[in-house]
Amino acid sequence: MNRAPETRSPFLRVLDGTPIDPPPLWMMRQAGRYLPEYRAVRAQAGDFLTLCYTPKLAAEVTLQPIRRYGFDAAIIFSDILVVPHALGVGLTFEAGEGPRLTPVTDRAGVSALKDRLDPDKVDPVYEAIAMVRATLPADVALIGFCGAPWTVATYMVAGQGTDDQAPARMLALRDEALFQSLIDRLVEASIVHLSGQVAAGADAVQIFDTWAGVLDPASFERWSAEPLRRIVAGLKALHPHVRVIAFPKGATLEALERLADTGINAIGLDWAADRQAARRRLSGRVALQGNLDPLRLIAGGAALEEEVARIREDFSGVRHIFNLGHGIRPETPLDHVEKLVEAVRRAR
Ligand code: CP3
Repeated sequence: MNRAPETRSPFLRVLDGTPIDPPPLWMMRQAGRYLPEYRAVRAQAGDFLTLCYTPKLAAEVTLQPIRRYGFDAAIIFSDILVVPHALGVGLTFEAGEGPRLTPVTDRAGVSALKDRLDPDKVDPVYEAIAMVRATLPADVALIGFCGAPWTVATYMVAGQGTDDQAPARMLALRDEALFQSLIDRLVEASIVHLSGQVAAGADAVQIFDTWAGVLDPASFERWSAEPLRRIVAGLKALHPHVRVIAFPKGATLEALERLADTGINAIGLDWAADRQAARRRLSGRVALQGNLDPLRLIAGGAALEEEVARIREDFSGVRHIFNLGHGIRPETPLDHVEKLVEAVRRAR
């Protein structure tokens, strides 16, 4: 399907420059374990990676939250660690323990990375995107994604998630040149993977930099901002109309300001961000996405409803996409999500 630039999707119109009230809405990790229908398909697939690499199943769980809640955008079901997997890194997901990767900690490890993304790992993502796009209503946008090189590198170096990503920070301090070569490989791979997703039908892409907040300002510039600039330039050279959202979790407002000129269309704010300061300093240059604390969605009641009203007020009149400040958690009650949708779409 050929999507006209003058799109009917409210989500894309906000990214393209128009404030809309009520704001378009989607949720990070909206396809996931809080949904019983997700748990059923997940059980059928058996393994998390099998779910990621089976286009029919990945397409199905991508569509589930759209059917149930009518969000304004779908995000393709996959994982940021598909990129290192496609570069040849060993990857498994242990139930309840999160990802385990073969650690990349030295020159031999970086040299062993494949020159091309393994089609067995990335083609299923593109196939799932094409299937979803063919089914999705025309006014619902489709988001592709990847992890930011810094965040993906933190998992590759440690071989798993850690509290503060000390292994990657330490490698970057001890052997800058080696760490730079790893980041460079991930910049290239990210451009190829995002481009493949856009070619398959993604209208926008989000770059998840979950661990941006552990970097000092100079390290943020080098390992987060600069690679992002190169990815955006590389991707937009191939697909001039694609919209890019950056989500640098935990980054300071000063750091976010440094991203506003990277060519991105929106910045995702986590729940700790100062909305009024973000509005003053960023909203003239980019759309703002966020930023409800996922815990408020679990708590419900006034903790949820009052904050939704404050978020809408704080961003009234500027380009805003309503979202959580990080991914929805598995223990979130379904009826609280319904309350959220009502509150976001209520006339003010
Ligand atoms: O947003 C969506 O609905 C699309 C799907 C998506 C997943 N992971 C599915 C998933 C997206 C966008 C991601 C991104 C991702 N993956 C990030 C960045 C965003 C963030 O939340 O910080 C990171 C750091 C990862 C790596 C990852 N994947 C970890 C650390 C884990 C284990 C922790 C956990 O939540 O279980 C995963 C597994 C994962 N990725 C699950 C889902 C639905 C849960 C696995 C399951 O169903 O058994």
